[in-house]
Amino acid sequence: MIKELSLLNFRNFSQSFFTFENGKNLLIGTNGSGKTNLLEAIGYISQGKSFRKTLDRDLILWGQNFFKIEAKVEKNGILYEIEVSYEKTTNEKRITVNKKLIERYSTLFSIFPSIISSDRDQDVIDGPPLERRKIINRLISIINPSFLNLLFDYNKVLENKNALLKAKATHEISPWNQKQEQLTREISKLRRDFINEISEDFSQISFEFLNGRRASISYIPSLDEKDTINDFLSEELELGFSNHGVHRDNFEFFIEGKHARTFASEGEKRLTILSFYLAFLSHYKPDSLIILDEPFSVLDKRGIEVVLSHLRNQTFISAPYMDSYKENFQRIIEL
Ligand SMILES: Nc1ncnc2c1ncn2[C@@H]1O[C@H](COP(=O)(O)OP(=O)(O)OP(=O)(O)O)[C@@H](O)[C@H]1O
Ligand SMILES: [Mg+2]
Repeated sequence: MIKELSLLNFRNFSQSFFTFENGKNLLIGTNGSGKTNLLEAIGYISQGKSFRKTLDRDLILWGQNFFKIEAKVEKNGILYEIEVSYEKTTNEKRITVNKKLIERYSTLFSIFPSIISSDRDQDVIDGPPLERRKIINRLISIINPSFLNLLFDYNKVLENKNALLKAKATHEISPWNQKQEQLTREISKLRRDFINEISEDFSQISFEFLNGRRASISYIPSLDEKDTINDFLSEELELGFSNHGVHRDNFEFFIEGKHARTFASEGEKRLTILSFYLAFLSHYKPDSLIILDEPFSVLDKRGIEVVLSHLRNQTFISAPYMDSYKENFQRIIEL
């Protein structure tokens, strides 16, 4: 859990210090008061970047040259001090954990994973397959940290292979295809198992949210059981890049069997993703942080109660105001 957070020149916070409780933390404030900015800083501590996809230099308080986020985080009784700083002029970003520099953002995520739900969830349904792969990769990594290494290895293989394809080095490609194929089978199995395992809870929780309709997700692997990556060698040589394998996998969300992308309302899309996250929490009970940016804007009274009842981890929720339910929160921060 995050115990303390201090912000220096981050977005609209010139210098601020926050303490949080292990439980539900509510951030209240008017439009533009900095609720999403604070959630963004919390998410940054976990993911090493902005969940709003903002460039680091745009996170710096206007007129300044750097930002710094410091956090004290406790996990399994161990205290971690995380520090992130970014300097505009040198474009230098430093992330340290207990004063030790870390090189891969994924190191942060494996110590300190998070689930983030915001109005960007609609993009998960509407956007390209990459958006869906990202959230599913993240969830699998929370329960299986070595999944991140598999993805890292896969991307390395892909990089090497693409360089060879581009150079038309036909004879050197086959060993890379073998490696890619082996990693594709491994990653694909973990993705398939994950979707199978979560589907029952997803169906039940979405039923509570979507007025008696059920959402589902299907996994559409790029590579068929019967195909091998080498079967596509001539096509890939022609293209000059790798076009088959888990980097081309897709996932699709459905409500009552109908494509959510085409038919669901904006609110229903957010509810679908939110229930997917809650299904994950309820099924795996992971030790992760939960960040929910204005979830109540799309929920009715019963939906709010369902969400609150599922949140057992340290959670950060923003809302413009809160008349009821205040007793559900261990800490209320007014911005
Ligand atoms: N780099 C920056 N430097 C200074 N201020 C910034 C920077 N980036 C954004 N802001 C300001 O931060 C404010 C937005 O904060 P934020 O998005 O956190 O608001 P919010 O409380 O979530 O509002 P809403 O309820 O509308 O979602 C805006 O007023 C914006 O002008
Ligand atoms: Mg906001």
